[in-house]
Formats: sequence, C-alpha cells, structure tokens
Amino acid sequence: MSETEQPIEEKSSFLEDLKDTLRRGKTIDGYDYNVKKRYHEPAPDGNHAEEFKQVVESRRSVRKFTSKQIPKDVLDACLDLALLAPSSCNLQPWEFHVVQSPDKKQRLVEACMSQNAATTAAELIVVVARTNNWREIAKLNIEQWPQPKIPKHWKEFYTKGVAFTYWQGPFHAVGAVKKAFTHAAGLFRPMPRGPFTKSDMRVWAIKSTALAAENLMLAFRAHGFDSCPMEGMDEVRVRKLLDLPADAEVVMVVGAGERAKDGVYFPRVKFDRSNFIRYV
Ligand SMILES: Cc1cc2nc3c(=O)[nH]c(=O)nc-3n(C[C@H](O)[C@H](O)[C@H](O)COP(=O)(O)O)c2cc1C
Repeated sequence: MSETEQPIEEKSSFLEDLKDTLRRGKTIDGYDYNVKKRYHEPAPDGNHAEEFKQVVESRRSVRKFTSKQIPKDVLDACLDLALLAPSSCNLQPWEFHVVQSPDKKQRLVEACMSQNAATTAAELIVVVARTNNWREIAKLNIEQWPQPKIPKHWKEFYTKGVAFTYWQGPFHAVGAVKKAFTHAAGLFRPMPRGPFTKSDMRVWAIKSTALAAENLMLAFRAHGFDSCPMEGMDEVRVRKLLDLPADAEVVMVVGAGERAKDGVYFPRVKFDRSNFIRYV
C-alpha cells in the first residue's frame, strides 16, 4: 500500500459477514468489494520464468554433501524465504528447528537412520507443523498489523473467526457438532468441510508447512546449495530431541549443504504429464 492510502475500517461485523457468506454461499474472504479505496499491490515488472525454471529443474534430492558450510547469511536468507510461503488463513503453522549443537546433530543423524543425506549435511533443519498454536498466531495477526489502523474485518476474523473455524473443543466435540451442521447445511449450499477432527487439523497444518519446506529447498538451490527432504526418520526420537509439544507434527527433516560431485544418486525419474494433469 502506498503511504498516502489508508486502510479501510470495514463496515460489517464478523457475524454479519458470516451470515452473508452462508446466504450467498460464494466467497469466504469477507472483503467488501464495494469500498472504493482499497489496498493495491500491482504485479511486479519483469518475467523471471527462465531463472525460476533453472532453480526448479536443478533442484534434486542430494544425498552427499561436501564439507563446505552454508554461510549464516545464506542460511538465514533461505529460512526467511521459507517463511514467505502462503499459509491457511495466514496462520503460519510452521516451525524450523535448525539443529546445530554437535550433540543434538549427532542424535538427529541417528534418528534419520544415519542416512548419508543427514550424515554429510552441513545443516539439518527439522520442519515442524503446529496444530494448536493458531490462537497465538491469530493474536500476532492483530498485534503486528503493518498499518496504523487495523481493518475491522481483519480484527474480527482473528478474534472470533479463527476460533469459530479452528476450535474443536474438548475431545473435538465442538468439531463433531460443526461437522454435523456442515453436513446438513452442505446439502443446500457450498460449505467448507473442515477442519473438524484431530486428523483434519494435522492435514491443515501440514499442508501449509510443506509449502514452506519447498520454499526452503528452492531457496537453497537459488543460493547455490542443495537439500534433501527426509521423512525416513524416527519421529518419536526427533520429538524427544527437540522437546516438541504434543500438538507438533514432524513433517520432514531437511538436510542441506553443497552438492558433492556424486551427490545425486540417480537421474531424475518423472512420468508423462498425462498421468497427472487433467483438464476438465
Ligand atoms: C516428504 C518426502 C520425504 C522424503 N524422504 C526421503 C528420505 O527419507 N530419504 C531420501 O533419501 N529421500 C527422501 N525424499 C526424496 C525423494 O526420494 C525424492 O524427492 C524423489 O525420489 C524425487 O527425486 P528428486 O527430489 O531428486 O527430484 C523424500 C521426499 C519427500 C517429498
């Protein structure tokens, strides 16, 4: 937003918005498209397709790294790029645990079944999804709003809307009620079908976190380093090592470093796009 533009205090309350959304069954973004003065962020100039293609195409899972360290500024830049990934309701349910203490790193390597990608990695990053810290992140969405005046709708969503959506109650009983209501209402209008259960919340958090993990790996590649995602690990040991809370899910461990000459074990194996892409 330019300096001259001011954020708009939106008129309707969260409940009114919700009712309106349910009535129309169309949009859940709650944005008032009738307000004249709105935030604008034009698409940047330029086309980076070629560089992007190079980064994506040259990313491979590297299982052998050289002894070169990743400079701290590069590591931090890559982690910062990971944090720019999109996330459901901007609730950023991810954590990146950069394991650097020699003792912990050794234990993490063992928890990764001593895979070469872990043993030789300059950095090991445990990518974690949190299923129950949405309240705190919702609070940050209000406290750290980047403009002087927070839009009413934004504030209401992060005070009431998130609880309505993500609070499942003790033993997920509230989630069960929401599920039943959704099922009934869904016969007549489009309805979001979750999350309602513990497993829904895991999927919800892991989806956004996996996007951030991919950002991280592409960022390493763009900076001249490489990575290997690893789910071949003992999650119980990793949780213990990092003293993770009960709601944390270990999504993957990312090993990173400089690619050794023989660091990629196999040529890329991909299949015809007709196997995966449907135009409907
Ligand atoms: C979620 C996930 C878990 C993976 N776990 C491992 C692993 O534990 N060890 C490993 O060597 N590679 C692992 N990989 C890498 C895949 O084997 C690799 O991405 C796939 O073979 C395609 O190769 P490419 O990444 O070089 O294109 C994992 C990849 C993903 C996405």
